[in-house]
Amino acid sequence: MLLGVVGDAMKTTWISDILEGKHDGQKVELKGWIKRSRGSNKIRFVVLRDSTGSIQCVAKKDAVGEECFENVKSALIESSLIIHGLANPDERADGGYEIIVQDVEIVGPVNPDTPFPITESAMVAADGGETEFLLDNRHLYLRTTRMTTMLKLRSSVFGAIHSYFRDLDFLEYQAPNFVAGAVEGGSTLFEVPYFGRKAYLTQSWQLYAEAAMPALERLYTIAPSFRAEKSRTRRHLTEFWHAEMEVAWADNNEIMSYGEGVVRKIAATLLDERSEELESLGRDLETIARYADSAYPRMRYDEAVDTLQGMGVEIEWGQDLDYSKEKVLTQDFDVPHFLTHYPKIAKPFYHRVDPDDEKYVLCHDLLAPEGYGEIIGGGERTWSEAEILARIDEEGTPREPYQFYIDTRTYGGVPHGGFGLGVDRVCSWLSGAEHIREVIPFPRDSRRVTP
Ligand code: 4AD
Ligand code: MG
Repeated sequence: MLLGVVGDAMKTTWISDILEGKHDGQKVELKGWIKRSRGSNKIRFVVLRDSTGSIQCVAKKDAVGEECFENVKSALIESSLIIHGLANPDERADGGYEIIVQDVEIVGPVNPDTPFPITESAMVAADGGETEFLLDNRHLYLRTTRMTTMLKLRSSVFGAIHSYFRDLDFLEYQAPNFVAGAVEGGSTLFEVPYFGRKAYLTQSWQLYAEAAMPALERLYTIAPSFRAEKSRTRRHLTEFWHAEMEVAWADNNEIMSYGEGVVRKIAATLLDERSEELESLGRDLETIARYADSAYPRMRYDEAVDTLQGMGVEIEWGQDLDYSKEKVLTQDFDVPHFLTHYPKIAKPFYHRVDPDDEKYVLCHDLLAPEGYGEIIGGGERTWSEAEILARIDEEGTPREPYQFYIDTRTYGGVPHGGFGLGVDRVCSWLSGAEHIREVIPFPRDSRRVTP
């Protein structure tokens, strides 16, 4: 572990380092929280956890003294401690190590009046399957092994996205979150009072990215997007993390290659950095490896509709695919599939009409397998001034909020496109979570903005 200046308060030893044999036989100072504690009036076994792992610490009354021993014995789960002791390799111990305790300082005790211990099993039991209790106590539930695992996976997913785009010389670019118009339709817009006017929370970075496309040519972001989704499903949040990219001089096929590239990179990074965590969640590493190594097939919307109709699903040509349909379609996929060429009537004005057949637009969704469904939406943009004006008017959308967007075309428009990837959805799919709220620290939906 690299350290800068080490002060008294700074932590110098991580549990993972001990478990990797970096401190064998040494005196160490451990800082962490009690995960479990048991024992007798003479000896206590305290499992201490930090962000890197957990280790059993053995405190004998003879060795630590009466007062220290009593403090350890009465300390509740999640009390924070500083332990001094010897890092002792021991085959019988979990992880192959234990700490022979010499001294314990209780830093932050847990109030004995607290109504429940912060353990996964106690919290799940108190919740009784309703999930409301776990969500009300999310700030504490974050410390459990399952949530910690999800947060670590999430960190690796964010890192993989940044690396993917930066390695390809994309520039990270930020758009405003207060905006004047819709990107993805008016029905999911969040309205906010804005000094006597109306503003909205952004649904997507895209339109502002297109304005910077002539300046930067290859750009990306990872930022929150907001949608007033009334329906609560296993893959919708009202605030979600959106990885978006925009690239000049690219067509739908090239943009799909980037989408495939970033999802494969995410899967490869998880295998590399988080295989233990994936296995602890019951994920099959070969499945994740297939997502990392395979090409993703591309099929047209019409073919998907035919397939669904063949499976007896009621769907009319022209309808966007909702979750119930994507679920059926992707149940038997073994890798993600792109669906391309949706009907123009199913998509917003910015999608470029297919010059070969005006009923369709040059767009794509990437559908994840295992019944998960859409994780990416993107495509080519309507890029000439005449066409964008025609599409805006055809949709009956007012031109005024989009004047900056129209100007992008008026002043040297070029073919371009991009996509948005729902980062929480990707985390949810790859971790095998039942629900998207399991993979984000403080999920937001139509009923909850707390804690
Ligand atoms: O398909 P969407 O609506 O596309 C756009 O926003 C484009 N403007 C993106 C672009 O081209 N730059 O959203 C993109 C992705 C979806 O495929 C989905 O993964 C995710 O964003 N997403 C959500 N994730 C969680 N909760 C929600 N309510 C989501 N809405 C969209
Ligand atoms: Mg979409």
